[in-house]
Amino acid sequence: MNVLLTGGIGYLGSHTALSLLEQGHEVTILDNLSNSNLTVLQCIESISSKQLNFVRGDVLENALVKNTINQFKIDAVIHLAGLKAVGESVLNPLKYYENNVQGAISLLDAMLSCNIRSLVFSSSATVYGAPQYLPINEEHPTNPYNPYGNSKFFIEQILIDIARSNKDWTIVNLRYFNPVGSHASGLIGDNPNGIPSNLMPYINQVAANQRPFLNVFGGDYETLDGTGIRDYIHVEDLSEAHLAALSWIDDPDKNRDINMNTFNIGTGVGYSVLDIIQAYEQINGLKIPYKITARREGDVAACYSDPTKANTVLGWKALRTLEDMCKSAWNFQKLRAIDI
Ligand code: NAD
Ligand code: UD1
Repeated sequence: MNVLLTGGIGYLGSHTALSLLEQGHEVTILDNLSNSNLTVLQCIESISSKQLNFVRGDVLENALVKNTINQFKIDAVIHLAGLKAVGESVLNPLKYYENNVQGAISLLDAMLSCNIRSLVFSSSATVYGAPQYLPINEEHPTNPYNPYGNSKFFIEQILIDIARSNKDWTIVNLRYFNPVGSHASGLIGDNPNGIPSNLMPYINQVAANQRPFLNVFGGDYETLDGTGIRDYIHVEDLSEAHLAALSWIDDPDKNRDINMNTFNIGTGVGYSVLDIIQAYEQINGLKIPYKITARREGDVAACYSDPTKANTVLGWKALRTLEDMCKSAWNFQKLRAIDI
């Protein structure tokens, strides 16, 4: 297939591009580089020994998106482009509604004009809000509690309406849990600007002596060791979920009555912050100094998925272990430390 990957230079997009290229898909990336660096493009091409098309631009530029779809004869779109910083979204909600929600509308409009009706959308487990039960399946009520989460929720609602409007649409909505780790090459990975707000990139920087210790946010949760539990998923497992989503879209025998389907993309296993530190130390032979500090506002004690639907309907399953996640995360950080 000729696949348009919006946000394909970013953390998840670059890994997804590699999975697509490995499977023989033609890849066109549209990215405005607002949170990524063009050097990643060279890394994707050198790892895969394949070429892809790159358009520097914004999904909000409707005419550019239409031209890109037409020029590269796109069959399906994977829409990853978006802003994702929860704290920033609280301070500047309109930026999130414009970039994420308006961006999705612009993309959908371009697809409609160009007669492209196949879409995979990057949503987030954040749409569920505080878990009412665990593990979280796709039937769990949605109740996002910050503008970033709302932006994903609003886009999901738009997609439901679009799918209802015309049966020609086929839409897969993927709700990612906590993606971590890097490609086996160590050349691409999670490389946030400034102080990392997510756990694994912060641990990476402590391991590289760029920060003295990790703040563990809360040691008094009602969990086995008192620290927060999450469903961490290896980024390569997550990128492969997109291949399964495209297969579902492209299934020639599709005599199904639904044309939009939502899937949790997680492992179904929850690990605590202390589990992660311990696994990281053990597999990489490093010490991660940490201090237990106050809880972070907005955090919940535990959040992990029931991925049964993706396992059965998409035939996709996360296969990599926590050790694989921690090893590949450090492998990426280590190579970058040498570069610097
Ligand atoms: P990222 O910031 O690394 O990548 C996003 C990419 O999109 C960047 O390259 C950025 O430059 C680009 N972009 C942003 N707005 C754009 C626009 N208007 N037009 C064109 N390009 C634009 O983020 P990521 O971690 O790779 O996340 C990808 C998607 O997955 C996002 O939509 C995010 O909300 C979603 N998601 C991520 C996580 C996670 O933990 N990383 C979890 C759940 C959902
Ligand atoms: C966060 C976002 C969520 C987003 C997800 C993936 C919030 C409230 N939620 O989820 O919307 O979809 O990232 O990008 O920001 N932790 C520490 N010390 C740190 C960092 C984290 O102890 O320095 C702990 C957290 O308290 C949590 C766990 O590690 O228990 C995971 O945190 P994080 O990686 O930020 O992910 P989430 O909070 O699950």
